[in-house]
Amino acid sequence: MQRKDILIADDDPMVCDSLKELLTLEGYSVDAVLNGQTALGRLKDHQYKVLLSDIQMPGMTGLELLKELKGREPNMLVVFITGHGHIDGAVEAIKMGAYDYITKPIDDVRLKLTMQRALEQHKLMVSYQSLKQRLKPWDLQNTILFRDRKMEQLMELIHTIADTQATVLITGESGTGKSLVARYIHENSSRRHRPFVQISCGSLSETLLESELFGHVRGAFTGAVRDKKGKFEEAQGSTIFLDDINCASPNLQVKLLRVLQEKVIERVGGNTPIKVDARIITATNTSLAEEVSKQNFREDLYYRINVVTLEIPPLRERLGDIEPLCEHFISQFNMLHNRQIKGLSKSALQLLLRYRWPGNVRELENILEQAVILCPGDYIIPDLMPPALGETPLPLTPVNSDLGLDEALALAEKHILLEVLERYKWNRQLSARALGISRTTLFNKMRRFELLSYRPRQGGVHTIHEPEEFHSYQ
Ligand SMILES: Nc1ncnc2c1ncn2[C@@H]1O[C@H](COP(=O)(O)OP(=O)(O)OP(=O)(O)O)[C@@H](O)[C@H]1O
Ligand SMILES: [Mg+2]
Repeated sequence: MQRKDILIADDDPMVCDSLKELLTLEGYSVDAVLNGQTALGRLKDHQYKVLLSDIQMPGMTGLELLKELKGREPNMLVVFITGHGHIDGAVEAIKMGAYDYITKPIDDVRLKLTMQRALEQHKLMVSYQSLKQRLKPWDLQNTILFRDRKMEQLMELIHTIADTQATVLITGESGTGKSLVARYIHENSSRRHRPFVQISCGSLSETLLESELFGHVRGAFTGAVRDKKGKFEEAQGSTIFLDDINCASPNLQVKLLRVLQEKVIERVGGNTPIKVDARIITATNTSLAEEVSKQNFREDLYYRINVVTLEIPPLRERLGDIEPLCEHFISQFNMLHNRQIKGLSKSALQLLLRYRWPGNVRELENILEQAVILCPGDYIIPDLMPPALGETPLPLTPVNSDLGLDEALALAEKHILLEVLERYKWNRQLSARALGISRTTLFNKMRRFELLSYRPRQGGVHTIHEPEEFHSYQ
């Protein structure tokens, strides 16, 4: 992975050249490309701090490029170049998360200043993130919080297989906790005394990835000046986590199959087989079975890596986890930002319980961090949350699913029970009264929906607060 400062994308070769020259003279390392697609291609084996891009480009527009980048390179800052008549587009871009824009004709001094500021901002962001990571005590970095029955069952399975040699495939949408689970398995296995090795199969070009995984011998390719150990050798006696396994090229898939079958690798350019003893954990956020049926993924490899499958459900299907996660994140961000937020208001919690969570736990973590920083009072209220939360509430009965009426009604009933129980801090008497049913009926329903083992936490951060005294806030 080559690291550089700035990537320029502009369909006008003259503009590209002159910007590149100007910024190179300023001492930055700069690349320039003529369209959005090539810019994205670059990111396979390059990492940039700032993208300087034209908004109007044929093919992929600057805004489309920005959207793609937000998923792939959240740390990369984007500065747009826009024509004088198109300021509206630039303002729209800032709303979507661009860092800044400059107008044509480009003023050199303004450009240099903007780039200098963007690079400083990038530096700040990166050091903040590493500080955040370092401040997280190790046991917190490796704690999986849950209360929902679905996660409870998954955790039982995780504990059963953790200390075995079984190859594990972890599936789940982005942000559901796949990387966390992979590390947790390692930490709960007898291999935990050796370092956990991880690599994403989607982050590097094919040749670089192979050399990272298997190492190379001196002279294997230009730039290979000495022998180098790969990740598989680093993971001897330990665990290797191959993230985004769905991105593995056909060639790499063949090599991985060999590792799984024969437990040997060869360094790139070498022909001495090296025995490896690494437990393999893989993860994917797309359906590998589907990739197999489309012939994008080898069936034999699929069966080899899929000895144990851990399917992490999306957050919207385990709403019971929201409350413990909120408590955890709020107290963590209180520590990090020196705040004393006590919890969430009832309506804020309700908002979280009705949201679809496309970005799953990571999205919840980000929303809570922002809310903790911005919160003026003791409790987080809905105003501190992004408006998108209120816009697409989770339907009580899942659309686009093949649930029968009985199942759908049961699900709706469970949601209502959960909402009322949460509201009354799991006090069954108050909840039964609010629902207009007897305590015995409530008990029976809770048993049916496996809600009996739910335990609201005592002390520390309370996610729910009796609403009366701060209704006036909302
Ligand atoms: N159950 C959980 N308890 C505590 N923290 C969690 C939990 N699940 C996820 N997290 C946190 O949420 C964030 C996202 O999790 P993680 O990176 O493991 O997701 P992922 O599925 O690997 O995402 P991606 O598909 O983008 O790689 C991390 O900060 C992680 O620590
Ligand atoms: Mg991950």
